[in-house]
Amino acid sequence: MAGHDPTEEWVPRGIDVSVPSVARVYDAMLGGKSNFAADRAVADKIRSILPVSAESAGEHRALLARGVRFLAAQGIDQFLDLGSGLPTVQNTHQVAQAANAAARVVYVDNDPMVLAHGRALLTENSGTAVITADIRDPDDVFGRPEVGQLIDLERPLGLMMVGVVHHLGDDDDPAGLIKRYLDRVTPGSHLFLSHFQAEPPVTDRMEQIFLQMLGSGRFRTTAEITAFFDGLDLVEAGVVDIPLWRPDKPRTRPPAPDDPNRLIAAGIGRKP
Ligand SMILES: C[S@@+](CC[C@H](N)C(=O)[O-])C[C@H]1O[C@@H](n2cnc3c(N)ncnc32)[C@H](O)[C@@H]1O
Repeated sequence: MAGHDPTEEWVPRGIDVSVPSVARVYDAMLGGKSNFAADRAVADKIRSILPVSAESAGEHRALLARGVRFLAAQGIDQFLDLGSGLPTVQNTHQVAQAANAAARVVYVDNDPMVLAHGRALLTENSGTAVITADIRDPDDVFGRPEVGQLIDLERPLGLMMVGVVHHLGDDDDPAGLIKRYLDRVTPGSHLFLSHFQAEPPVTDRMEQIFLQMLGSGRFRTTAEITAFFDGLDLVEAGVVDIPLWRPDKPRTRPPAPDDPNRLIAAGIGRKP
């Protein structure tokens, strides 16, 4: 059949596979199978501008695991993973529960495919849940029964905004939104955030492609990203290029200016 995409056989009802989605494009960049032709077209375009960007997606996933392991080492055993993405390798609950079998994770994403695939992965895991919600509405997120059941807001929480805030426009007031989440969590909670980092001119072109093809994807300056941690105690190494954030093995040299890994910065801050 012309144009038949075998993976379309397991598309949840109501999903238009002709429109690319952020979650599926990221899955395509990571070499996953939960994506369709429209998503792969965006991934191809991104790679055509910056051929090594797939490497950057892999680095980002490695960062996520390092960050979760760090949080677990601080005694954090409950995680709200906002903009969690499609299940892939080293998912938050797998990393967290490897450190502490009792760790609890609520995954939140506005892409309904994340729910469908997440549920399949999590059927046997009573410490995790996945919900479809827009992170721009914290009242809705905190009001969901799954959050109430798995997360105790009287205890420190790992608030994860990994790779998602750059999909919020300036009109969404990301700094104000982050503050609304932080206001709801107890001292000792940590914000773990990563974000596309402006590195002109290459990121100007990338931003254009993201906005045209996906409708979101803002590259913000390191100062803007650092300001998201206002009021928190930034843990060592601060807000830095992702390979430099507490690498498992020390890097022998800092990334070059055209290194794709400079395109994303990350940090963790603790609420005092
Ligand atoms: C690039 S993926 C990041 C996945 C994962 N956190 C990681 O870092 O590997 C961004 C995810 O955020 C989700 N997302 C974007 N805007 C969102 C919103 N307003 N509310 C909830 N999820 C959102 C997308 O559907 C996508 O799955």
